[in-house]
Amino acid sequence: KKASIGVTGLAVMGRNLARNLARHGHTVALHNRSEQRTRELVEQFGSEGEFIPAHSAREFVDALERPRQVVVMVKAGAPTDAVIDEFAELLEPGDVIVDAGNAHFADTRRREAALRERGLHFVGTGVSGGEEGALHGPSIMPGGSKESYESLGPLLEDIAAKVDGTPCCAHIGPDGAGHFVKMVHNGIEYADMQLIAESFDLLRGALGYEPAQIAEIFRTWNTGRLDSYLIEITAEVLAHTDAATGKPFVDVVLDQAEQKGTGRWTVQIGLDLGIPITGIAEATFARSLSGHANLRAATKGLAGPSRTPLSGSDAERFADDVEQALYASKVVAYAQGFNQIQAGSAEYGWNVDLGSVASLWRGGCIIRAKFLDDIRAAFEAEPGLPTLLTSGDFRKAVEDAQDAWRSVVSTAVCLGIPTPGFSTALAYYDGLRADRLPAALVQGQRDYFGAHTYRRVDREGSFHTEWATGARPERPA
Ligand code: 6PG
Repeated sequence: KKASIGVTGLAVMGRNLARNLARHGHTVALHNRSEQRTRELVEQFGSEGEFIPAHSAREFVDALERPRQVVVMVKAGAPTDAVIDEFAELLEPGDVIVDAGNAHFADTRRREAALRERGLHFVGTGVSGGEEGALHGPSIMPGGSKESYESLGPLLEDIAAKVDGTPCCAHIGPDGAGHFVKMVHNGIEYADMQLIAESFDLLRGALGYEPAQIAEIFRTWNTGRLDSYLIEITAEVLAHTDAATGKPFVDVVLDQAEQKGTGRWTVQIGLDLGIPITGIAEATFARSLSGHANLRAATKGLAGPSRTPLSGSDAERFADDVEQALYASKVVAYAQGFNQIQAGSAEYGWNVDLGSVASLWRGGCIIRAKFLDDIRAAFEAEPGLPTLLTSGDFRKAVEDAQDAWRSVVSTAVCLGIPTPGFSTALAYYDGLRADRLPAALVQGQRDYFGAHTYRRVDREGSFHTEWATGARPERPA
C-alpha cells in the first residue's frame, strides 16, 4: 500500500502533522534528514495509524501514490530551499510540494513560479495553532493552484480544527496567498497580545490589583464578547505562581518580548502596500522597545506623573471601561489586518475571500475568538466592505465604547502608563471619522519646500503656489 501524503522534517510540528494525518486514517510516509527522528516517531506513535518510514528521499518519494504530496516542515529560508530542490529533482509533473512552515509570501511566490515551470505544484500554507494545534486540529491557510487543492484539500480539511462542523481550512488563493494570510494572522496576533498586555498593565497600575485578581477579570471577560483563546491563556498565565519564589509568575519573567519576525514582515508589507496597520506596527515596536535594555536603563528615572491609583467611582468603573477600550481597539486591529489582506489580494490578483478567512480563523489558530464569527458574517453579507468599523454590529459596539475608550486612554496618559495599542487604535478611529485632516497642511508644506503640488477641494487638477515671489500666484502645475 502506498501513502497518500508524506511529511519530511519531523521536528515537533512535522511530527504532529504526520500523526494528525495518520490518526485520520491517512497512510503517511515519513522522512527526516537524520533517521533517528523517523525511528522515534514510529516507535512512540506507530500504533496511532499507518506510517511508512523511509530511509532516503528516493524511498520516500517511491512510497507515495500519485499525485505525490510532500509536506516540507523544515526551518524557513535556506533549509526550505534546499529540501524543495532535493525533492523537485525526484518528483514528476503533477506532484505537489507543500511548505507548511512560516515562510515569507514573497519566497513562496518565487518558489511557486520556479516549480510551476517544472510542472510541479507548490503550495505554501499557513498552519496556526502551535504544536498542540498541529496534533489536534490547526487552522490551515493553503495557497497555490486550485488543482493542487483538489487532491490536498480533503486531507487538510480532515486534520483541521472544526467549528460548527466547518473545517478551519480553505483554499486561500494562488501562489503566496496562504502565507500572506498567515503573516497577517501573526501580525494581528501581535496586536491582540499587546492590547491584552496593556489591559493588564492598566488594571494593575491604575487600580493596584494583583495578577491573580486580574486573572479573575480576564476570566469574566472570556465569558462575553471577548471570548478568545488569547484571553483564556492570559488568565492562566496571570493566575500562575512561580514555584521557586512563590511570586506571581508574571513578576519573575524578564520583561523583554521577543519575536521571530512574522510581525515585522507584516509591518514591512503594510508599509509597502500603504495600508495603515497601526495596531500591528505599535505592537511590534512595543516588543522592540521592551527589548532595548540599554535604552531603558539609560532613561530610568525620567520624570513621570505621580502615579496615584484611581479610587471611588472612577475605580469601580475602570475595569468595565478597559473591557470596552480593549474590545474597540481589537476591532480596529482586526479591521486593519483585513484591510491589509484586501490590499495584498488586489495587488497580487489573489481574489481572497475575507469571509472565508474569518471563518477558518474561528478555530485552531492562536487568534481564534468568538467575534471572528461576527467578522465572517460581516464579510459574507458584504464582501467588499471597506472596513469592519462600518459594519452594523461593529459600528454600534465601537460607537458605544468610545467614551469609555477615551477615558481609559486619558487615564493612561495621566498616570504615565504606556498604551501604544489603545492610543493608536483610538487615533485611527478619530483619523478616519474626521471631516478634515491636517494632511492639507502637510500638502502645503510639501508644495512650499519642494514644489510637490497639491490638489484642491473645489477644482480638478494639480496646483503649485509660487511661494518665493511676493504675489504667490497659484497656477495649475
Ligand atoms: C501560530 C503562531 C506561530 C508562532 C509564531 C510566534 O499561528 O501558531 O503564530 O506561528 O507562535 O512563530 O512568533 P513570535 O516568536 O514572533 O512571537
